[in-house]
Amino acid sequence: MAEYVFAIKAGDVQTGQIVALTLDDVPIAFTRLDGRIVAFGDVCTHDDGPLAEGTIEGDCVVCPRHGAHFNLYTGKPTFPAPFPIPIYETKIDGDDVLVKLTQTS
Ligand code: FES
Repeated sequence: MAEYVFAIKAGDVQTGQIVALTLDDVPIAFTRLDGRIVAFGDVCTHDDGPLAEGTIEGDCVVCPRHGAHFNLYTGKPTFPAPFPIPIYETKIDGDDVLVKLTQTS
């Protein structure tokens, strides 16, 4: 069973902003959605676009290259991305954000 690992301070993740990190060689991006911190794969499944350089629209992150939207609760994409992105479980411990590197979707 995968362990939670420290990722980032909660205060460094703000609504509407995206922060990118690499944890255990896994590129992960963080944002705050409905008050909770969401962690998702930072690579677009269309052509490897850097999602952390995209924007947040509603419940989605929008790829900066060709505009695919990925739902931040499910990872599900819109055209032209063919596959979902991984969504990772997070939990808060004080001001620390912990992430489980085994994806939930
Ligand atoms: S690389 Fe993301 S939509 Fe093309």
